[in-house]
Amino acid sequence: MDLSIICRLVGIGLSSNRKRRVTTMTTKEGEQPGVFNSTESQSSESLAQGINKTDHVFQMLLRQVHAALETYSNVHRGSGHYSMVTTHLFEKARDVVLDHLHLPRRNTVLLFCTKRRAEALFKQLKPSDYQCISSEDIGLALGVTAAAVNKKALRRCAVTETGGGTTRLISPKSITWAAVPDRFEAGTPAVINIIAFAVALRLIRQFGTIVFSDLTAHQSEIVDILYRDDLEDFTGLELLNRLRQTLIGQGVLVPTAMGDRRHVNLDNSASTPTFLPIWNAVQQTWRLQKSMHEKIVCEVKSVIADTIGAPSDVFELLFTSNTTEAVNLAAENFGRELEEGVEPLVLSTILEHSSNDLPWRMLPGVSLLRLPVDEDGFVDLNELDAFLCKYNKECLHGNKRIKIVTVSGASNVLGVFTPIEEIGRIVHRHGARFLVDGAQLVAHRAVNLQHLGIDYFVFSAHKVYAPFGCGVLAVKKDLLRFTPRELKSIRSSGEMNVGGIAALGKALILLKRIGLDVIQEEEQTLTARMLRGLSKIPGLEIYGIRDPDSPRFSKKGGVIVFNLKGSMGSRTAKQLACQAGIGVRYGCHCSHMLVKHILHVGPTLQRFQHMIVTLFPKLLLPGVVRVSFGIENSEEDVDRCVVALQNIALKSQSVMGETADGTPEPKLLLPNADVKQRMNDFVEAAVQRVYAS
Ligand SMILES: Cc1ncc(COP(=O)(O)O)c(C=O)c1O
Repeated sequence: MDLSIICRLVGIGLSSNRKRRVTTMTTKEGEQPGVFNSTESQSSESLAQGINKTDHVFQMLLRQVHAALETYSNVHRGSGHYSMVTTHLFEKARDVVLDHLHLPRRNTVLLFCTKRRAEALFKQLKPSDYQCISSEDIGLALGVTAAAVNKKALRRCAVTETGGGTTRLISPKSITWAAVPDRFEAGTPAVINIIAFAVALRLIRQFGTIVFSDLTAHQSEIVDILYRDDLEDFTGLELLNRLRQTLIGQGVLVPTAMGDRRHVNLDNSASTPTFLPIWNAVQQTWRLQKSMHEKIVCEVKSVIADTIGAPSDVFELLFTSNTTEAVNLAAENFGRELEEGVEPLVLSTILEHSSNDLPWRMLPGVSLLRLPVDEDGFVDLNELDAFLCKYNKECLHGNKRIKIVTVSGASNVLGVFTPIEEIGRIVHRHGARFLVDGAQLVAHRAVNLQHLGIDYFVFSAHKVYAPFGCGVLAVKKDLLRFTPRELKSIRSSGEMNVGGIAALGKALILLKRIGLDVIQEEEQTLTARMLRGLSKIPGLEIYGIRDPDSPRFSKKGGVIVFNLKGSMGSRTAKQLACQAGIGVRYGCHCSHMLVKHILHVGPTLQRFQHMIVTLFPKLLLPGVVRVSFGIENSEEDVDRCVVALQNIALKSQSVMGETADGTPEPKLLLPNADVKQRMNDFVEAAVQRVYAS
């Protein structure tokens, strides 16, 4: 049977990647696709000014990383220009490293990971099966390890960490793993650091051996890096407005069917862009002498402790590369707590991101149970209580005990904030531990671990405007079960990425100075405006809380998911990019069980989808289009998105022959094929700027 017929039968679309032209690194002469701010390479200037070679090359590195930041978005599955650019930059980094190591692509897979994750993988391999190079080797404090592994040997390896990106599809009982290398790169990679590492390797190739730790001493004080900036006299909304002006990539124009337009990023739940004061902190930290690294790590720990209410005498703070690694660590630590004679259970919900599901599911000797959620994404607290009571108090299930309850603080799909305080109280009443996945929480609402009764807390810096590959696990000290040796290895792996740690510290300080209450108000205003606008679009179905006047609206953050009747969501997302320069995301957002729940995909269809995805891995599953706000967004962004969706809906309905009111179809300036070509040219030009040397 024809593939497209199968797709329609099971409600699956063909991945646009399948059709996408593979772009090369060359830009056609005289062509200027898209418009960037001017940060052109000034390669020979600084050398002529007598700056030493390492400093000169370091400045080039900074300029090229800045170029990557201008069009930053999360890799894979995003639909906008920025996601295309960043995915190309990231994948190109693999080629750069393989070239550096003089290894063939044919039989080698290049994985990016942390030192710790690499070590776990290497334990399964023969020394002849892999080669490894890290950012430390060239004197850069990025915390990036690149492992080049023989393809055949890698196929025999078990995944050591699981979570977002490692699977194609999950259901309560089955997992379809992603292909390599994704299967071994759990969670959001440290994209910018990886690009920086690849750029540095190319610069080394051009300029000869350079050790970036040999920079001319130019030491900043820790206090200057973290606390001083051009905006230090401002707070609250005024600071927020001024910070918006410093968005890296502000003013980048992208090609659309309407001509070149300012890019609008509505994909903040996937990853957030950054701002000049945060980038400045990173640049200063990358220059710091190694002897200062410990000081900055220590100071940022105290910033985090203060921000999330996790005092250092009660909580241990461990740096990771992302939330996923932090959940894996928490699960590993929890696995050591198990008692003889007790069958341990982990209780979570169907709302969870796969990074807060798979690590528990894969934990040996432990079973995972999931509570349902209602259509808005809320757990029934009475049901939670009754559940815990049955297992832990009334002991109705033999020696099975719920030992830990693990929930998202905020959903990356429905945008709702979970009632953590109430859940924490119930969980502790029944003697269980409590983990909160704060990936979607920290940038949006204030948290205090002590007040909320949280035992384990995890989050990622790249969702807090610090996209430099840093994550955090906060765990109560008395629950730590790692040996001192293991702790040393965990710390040394996480703390290598000093720049990422400083970025996180700086971002948290700025958010605090703005005030989470101010951010919350702005976010609610944008969300209400968007919901009102979307509610007027015929054929557009919003999932979850959709009425800004309902009592539940105060529990909703800036994440809205929807579908347009008669159009595959992947197409809607692509159209938003092509027609209006808006970057959103489409799919299951690594929350397969929740998306199936809101789309009412029953078990039989789910089984069929598993079969289809196994046979045709490039197929896209039915999902939802997601817009998600960050602090850089404005009412103008919302209105642009609403108008674009109105136009898309009008067009898809007129195609279906349903437009009855005779509204004229919007006129697009350029045909689809031209826009696609210009988008590809834009991507090529952006890639060229970053890997210019
Ligand atoms: C709720 C939630 N948890 C966990 C994660 C995983 O975060 P990371 O990819 O940074 O590890 C995400 C990322 O989208 C998320 O939204």
